[in-house]
Amino acid sequence: MKPTIVILISGRGSNMAAILSASLPIKVAAVISNQADATGLELAAAQGIPTAVVDHRAFSTREDFDAALQNAIDQFSPQLVVLAGFMRILSPQFVAHYEKRLINIHPSLLPAFPGLHTHRQALAAGVRIHGCTVHFVTDRLDHGPIVVQAAVPVLQGDTEALLSARVLRREHVIYSRALRWWAEGRLHWQEDCIHVDGEFQNFGGLSAPEPVA
Ligand code: GRF
Repeated sequence: MKPTIVILISGRGSNMAAILSASLPIKVAAVISNQADATGLELAAAQGIPTAVVDHRAFSTREDFDAALQNAIDQFSPQLVVLAGFMRILSPQFVAHYEKRLINIHPSLLPAFPGLHTHRQALAAGVRIHGCTVHFVTDRLDHGPIVVQAAVPVLQGDTEALLSARVLRREHVIYSRALRWWAEGRLHWQEDCIHVDGEFQNFGGLSAPEPVA
């Protein structure tokens, strides 16, 4: 039987869409958003995937919201909860409940540039290499065992929009790759590191330089 995941989104849902179209050996049991107008919800519903909204504004504390979210997720009994552009900080209780079952994609080469506006941070820091990271979630924001990373060059004349688009193309590749490894039982925890069977390291590649538009 295919392992089951629930995907959490807050908006556009392009990572979710990439996961849905990757023909993974996974059952996507539901897509849940904290924003009723998340465009990704329509896309999921159009593919016959159950969707739900748990609006964080309806709760007075983070803990109450997280409890409601947890309740909504657990109705689908997923083996993994996949954060795909889910823009809420999660409480330690929530993270502990899904220990080793909560995975995220972050648009930087962690541990560089945690938090928001990662592409702006990368441009301001003058780094030449930027990228994205799939990692398991711990209660330290944008930290946790790394599953796979991909790098992209920062090019002369880059803007936040150009860099973000270049990174996003790699996000769409490595998130599905990480989930395939997970579904195939190929991810192994060794202390706080993740090892992958049968792959040379967990490197999602350096994309070739592209012309600046
Ligand atoms: C992605 O860049 C993801 O890494 C970040 O938020 C963005 C979400 O984009 N956490 P999308 O909703 O998947 O299109």
